[in-house]
Amino acid sequence: MSDVLKVEKLDGGVALLTVNRPDKMNALNGEVRCALLGALDELRDDDDVRVVVLTGAGEKAFIAGADIKEFEGKTPAQQHRAMVRGNIYSAMETFPKPVIAMINGYCLGGGCELSMACDIRVASDRARLGQPEINLGIIPGGGGTQRLPRLVGEGRALKLILSGEMVGAEEAGRIGLVDEVVPADQLRERTLELAREMASKGPIALQAAKECVLASRRMPLDEGLKFERGWFALLFSTKDMEEGVDAFLNKREAHFTGE
Ligand code: COA
Repeated sequence: MSDVLKVEKLDGGVALLTVNRPDKMNALNGEVRCALLGALDELRDDDDVRVVVLTGAGEKAFIAGADIKEFEGKTPAQQHRAMVRGNIYSAMETFPKPVIAMINGYCLGGGCELSMACDIRVASDRARLGQPEINLGIIPGGGGTQRLPRLVGEGRALKLILSGEMVGAEEAGRIGLVDEVVPADQLRERTLELAREMASKGPIALQAAKECVLASRRMPLDEGLKFERGWFALLFSTKDMEEGVDAFLNKREAHFTGE
């Protein structure tokens, strides 16, 4: 565990990652990125963990973007290298278990992009989201120009990216930038409830579902349908499928083991 990232294993198969730089609005610096990559690497192989939740420490911010201090004096080549080596956004998106962003406050720039690389976003009604990079004379560099239009549509994405304006949680929910908005004092409880619900499902099916939905972004429909059928048939070889069907037919609760 590092000082800038708390990693907690909670009951019910859920791991909670908390970016821990509250005095800097949990801005993403190199140390945080490195710690996040390390944590994902460990959690990937940890069979006790079936779902990951990402949040920010304190009450003000989820993550207020990349650490702007680190931009000073960087050459284009240095910046490009840093972005390609250990891309936390891709690592989050391709992580084989569900990841939920628990958005507790400012969710800006790289923070908004990291939340979009998660599978699901649950936001406090006090959260504010946006892509303010244009105010710094740059553009989103963690996938914002690609993932935001896919989530909210091109017009809304361009409005956010070109104006740098923030939106409140309700508006973010209305346009599909977040999936659920809850009162701030219920954010943790509701997010963990959702995480535990998912963690009770079969891990191979969870991974398959995530891979198929992600594949829909890069595949034409006919190829995507073939990809889905492949996974569907493969799941018939799992003990989890036998367990799920047997549990349903015998009117009992299923216990999935990931085999
Ligand atoms: N990078 C580095 N430091 C950041 C930061 C970032 N992205 N966001 C906030 N901080 C730091 C501030 O510099 C300040 O540090 P200091 O106390 O040493 O001066 C501290 O966090 C608190 O932020 P502050 O601006 O005083 O809080 P606020 O409540 O007035 O405003 C924000 C909060 C989030 C609106 C404001 O900090 C902000 O606009 N941050 C930058 C957002 C951004 O442009 N992100 C995209 C980066 S590419």
